[in-house]
Amino acid sequence: MNIAILGGGHVGGALGKSWAGRGHAIHFGLRNPADPKYRQLAAGGGLHITLATVAEASKAAEIVVVATPWPAAKQALADASPLAGKIIIDCTNPLKSDLSGLEVGHTTSAAEQIAGWAQGGQVVKTFNHTGAGNMANPGRYPLRPVMFVCGDDAHAKKTVLDLVQDIGFDAIDAGPLTMARELEPLAMLWISLALKQKLGPNIAFALMRAKA
Ligand SMILES: NC(=O)c1ccc[n+]([C@@H]2O[C@H](COP(=O)([O-])OP(=O)(O)OC[C@H]3O[C@@H](n4cnc5c(N)ncnc54)[C@H](OP(=O)(O)O)[C@@H]3O)[C@@H](O)[C@H]2O)c1
Repeated sequence: MNIAILGGGHVGGALGKSWAGRGHAIHFGLRNPADPKYRQLAAGGGLHITLATVAEASKAAEIVVVATPWPAAKQALADASPLAGKIIIDCTNPLKSDLSGLEVGHTTSAAEQIAGWAQGGQVVKTFNHTGAGNMANPGRYPLRPVMFVCGDDAHAKKTVLDLVQDIGFDAIDAGPLTMARELEPLAMLWISLALKQKLGPNIAFALMRAKA
């Protein structure tokens, strides 16, 4: 698939490498694609990875991944328009700047706000509740790390579940987009365990099933 990734940081870089390694075409949408700091995103011989502006990357793709800090998401989506007919994967967490909690929650979510800005794009929330290191390499655990996926459009969600599965996660349909109200606090739990409780970034949630 043609996948635009808005943001070339920890999350964008990890997802781009993982999907490119599985044969997808990755179009990084960057504020300044000529910045030398982004050259390493395209390293890796034989992989289809391009560095472009946000508008160019979005135009080339049927999937648009929002991997920017939360305060930048609205502008990134405006720059990526038109988005009608595209699938928007929201990886953001609306973190307070001191990581003490979320800026929105309970009665709405970042994902629902993004759906309001995506102008005809179908928003699916996922990849927000584990560390970027796990997105680069989920295969290093004894169980497959779980990745919950929520969204309102059945076709968009199925497409994203397949993309999540593709890079090695146990992809689970968590329901409609309003379930992002639960997935965004789940990210706070992961962050708190990794940083405040000092378990470090090499941890992941898994879903166990009882033996039949
Ligand atoms: N880090 C994690 O482990 C993790 C895990 C799950 C979810 N998340 C969430 O994922 C999102 C990205 O996190 P991250 O750690 O990857 O952040 P990061 O390393 O700081 O990277 C953010 C990227 O967004 C770009 N950016 C900023 N404003 C932009 C705009 N208007 N248009 C296009 N690109 C823009 C930045 O590029 P410039 O060079 O232009 O500034 C940078 O490449 C956040 O919402 C975070 O909460 C993070």
